[in-house]
Amino acid sequence: MELAYKAGKVILEASGQMKKVNVKESFADLVTETDKGVEKMLFEELKKRFPNDRFIGEESANKEPWTLEPTWIIDPIDGTTNFVHTFPFSCVSIGLTVNKQSSVGVVYNPSLDRLYTAVKGQGTQLVEGKKEPVTLRVRDCSSLSEALVMSEFGSQRDDAKKEAVFRNLEAIGWKCHGVRSLGTAAINLCSVASGHADAYYEFGLHIWDMAAAALILTEAGGYVCDTKGGPLDMQSRRILAASSEKLANEISETLLIHLEMERD
Ligand code: IPD
Repeated sequence: MELAYKAGKVILEASGQMKKVNVKESFADLVTETDKGVEKMLFEELKKRFPNDRFIGEESANKEPWTLEPTWIIDPIDGTTNFVHTFPFSCVSIGLTVNKQSSVGVVYNPSLDRLYTAVKGQGTQLVEGKKEPVTLRVRDCSSLSEALVMSEFGSQRDDAKKEAVFRNLEAIGWKCHGVRSLGTAAINLCSVASGHADAYYEFGLHIWDMAAAALILTEAGGYVCDTKGGPLDMQSRRILAASSEKLANEISETLLIHLEMERD
């Protein structure tokens, strides 16, 4: 939590400043010096406290393989596009997995001063500004016809992704109350955990976008799985999250294209 607040301060101060923006896999896949600087700071600080643990970060050139060992999985800025454009939904995401199971998740959106935390088996808490922490719980919603659904275009720009995004959006969008897209996978998951939305699905995200927030959702009573149903595979680049298993199943059956991508 302390490091999330520290990272958030750096993100907030840099947001809206002139910054060099580089691209990664497509012209819409952005990275800035702030992403790299925050990741370096978090790695250094966590390594001081947990020298024997392993580390995976979005911006590290050589990614360590994900193993059963305690592993910190970090996205220094989830929602880099929002950060660049000053849309106030970016966050730092810090997850810890042990035996490949998420055991701690911290997500902090500095623009709204919202800190989401979860420890396996201990529920999810939100600290907003100086208010007392509140325990989060998903909203009761078991039918797509009553759901607010979140999804993302993502940052890939190839034809297969385009077809999957738009055909799935057409299938889901007309059957639910509405579709929302905040531009950060972690905050989308936290929004379902908070009861602000009822479900979220995406193809193309990465392990660091979900490692912390998937736990935040399940500890708030939500359900996560693969888009085809079955256990979530955090390296598969796809996720379906909902306030209930029933709603997740309905969305899974409604999606038309389950994109297969190169694994993390
Ligand atoms: C991205 C965001 C975005 C999602 C992409 C992610 P980044 O993460 O979470 O909402 O659609 O799939 O890659 O690049 O801002 O850390």
